[in-house]
Amino acid sequence: MGKRTTRSHKTFLLIASILLLIFICIQFIRPEIKNPPVTADLQAPVPVKAIFQRACYDCHSNETNLHWFDKISPVYWRVAKHVETGREVLNFSSFNNLAPADQKGKLWEAFNQIALGAMPLKDYQFVHTSAKISAADLAILKKYLTEMAVKQKPEDTAKINALNKQSALLQSSAGASPLPTAPNGVTYIPDYKNWQPISTTERFDNGTMRVIFGNDIAVKAIKENHINPWPNGTIFAKVAWDQLAGKDGNIKTGAFKQIEYMIKDNKKYAATAGWGWARFKTPKMIPYGKNAMFTTECVNCHKPVANQDFVFTPPIKF
Ligand code: HEC
Ligand code: HEC
Repeated sequence: MGKRTTRSHKTFLLIASILLLIFICIQFIRPEIKNPPVTADLQAPVPVKAIFQRACYDCHSNETNLHWFDKISPVYWRVAKHVETGREVLNFSSFNNLAPADQKGKLWEAFNQIALGAMPLKDYQFVHTSAKISAADLAILKKYLTEMAVKQKPEDTAKINALNKQSALLQSSAGASPLPTAPNGVTYIPDYKNWQPISTTERFDNGTMRVIFGNDIAVKAIKENHINPWPNGTIFAKVAWDQLAGKDGNIKTGAFKQIEYMIKDNKKYAATAGWGWARFKTPKMIPYGKNAMFTTECVNCHKPVANQDFVFTPPIKF
C-alpha cells in the first residue's frame, strides 16, 4: 500500500513537471504586438472618448495596454489575435483619417455593437472589469450621436427638391435598362413594392426612415413561427428614405436613399452566413461594394444577432 502511494505520487510529480515545462516553453512562443504611432486619433468630447479608451482601445487602437495576465500564453495568443483583427476592422488611432460620413457610420456601428452586448468581447470584459459599459455610458454615447445628427429643418427645401427631382427621374427611367447587379451576383428585385412591411425603424443619428419588407415566404414563416432559421427563399428588403419634417413637426418620407436585400439560401450563400446580401444606392440603384468582399461588412455588423439567423428585426405579428 505504502509502495503504491509513492509510485502514483511519483507519476503525478512527473506529469506535473512535464506540464510545467511545456507551460514554460510556450511562454517563448510570442506573436509580437507592436504599438505603431498614433496618426489621427479619434476626435470626440472627453467623456465620449474616455469610454472608448477604457473599453475599446486595447483592441481597436495602436495604444494597446496589456495587463500581466494578458501576457501569459496561451491566453496571450488569443489576445494577440484579437488585437490584430480588432485593429483591422476599426482603429481609433487612424480614425480621423476617415471621411466625416464614414466616421459617423463607424460610431453608429460601435454604438450598436455595444448596445447589443457584442462589444467589448465577453471574455475580455470578464477579466477587464473596468471595460464594462454602463447604462450611463451608453446614454452618453447616444446623446453624442444624436447631437451629431443632421438637424431636421421643417419644410427643408433641399430635401423637397431632391424628392421632386427624383419622382421625375423615376417616371422617365421606369423599366428602361437591365436590372443592376451587386458584385456578388445578387440582382435588384423590383417586386419588393408588393411585399408586406414587416417593421419600420428610424435611425436617430442620420435622419432616415426605414421600412423592412418581407416576401411571401418570409410572411408565411412568420405566421407559422418558423423564423429561426428562416426557410430558404426568404427575402428581406430594407428601404431607406430621407426624413421630411413638415411645418407641424410631423415626419414623412422624402427622397429614396437606398435599398438592401437579404436572400436566404443556406447552400448557395453558405460562405456569407446563409444569406445573399446586396445594397443599391440612390434612385439610380448603384450597386454598393468594389468587389464581392463587401458582404464581410454586412455579415460582421449582423453578427451580434447570429443566434437569430443574422436577422435583427423582430417581425410584427400579422
Ligand atoms: C478584446 C478585444 C476587443 C475589445 C476590447 C473590443 N473589440 Fe471590437 N472587435 C474585436 C474583434 C476581434 C473584432 C472583429 C471580429 C468580430 O467581429 O468578432 C471586433 C469588431 C468590432 C466592430 C465591427 C467592425 C466591423 O466593421 O466589422 C466594431 C464596430 C467594434 N468591434 C467596436 C468595439 C467597441 C465600440 C468596443 C468598446 C466598447 C470594442 N469593439 C472592444 C475585438 C475587440
Ligand atoms: C452598421 C451595422 C450594419 C451594417 C454594416 C449592415 N447592417 Fe443591415 N441592419 C443593421 C441593423 C441594426 C438592422 C436592423 C434594422 C434597423 O435598425 O434598421 C439591419 C437590418 C437589415 C435588413 C433587414 C433584416 C434584418 O436583419 O432586420 C437587411 C435586409 C439588411 N440589414 C441588409 C444589409 C446589407 C445587404 C448590408 C451590407 C451591404 C448590411 N445590412 C450592413 C445593421 C447593419
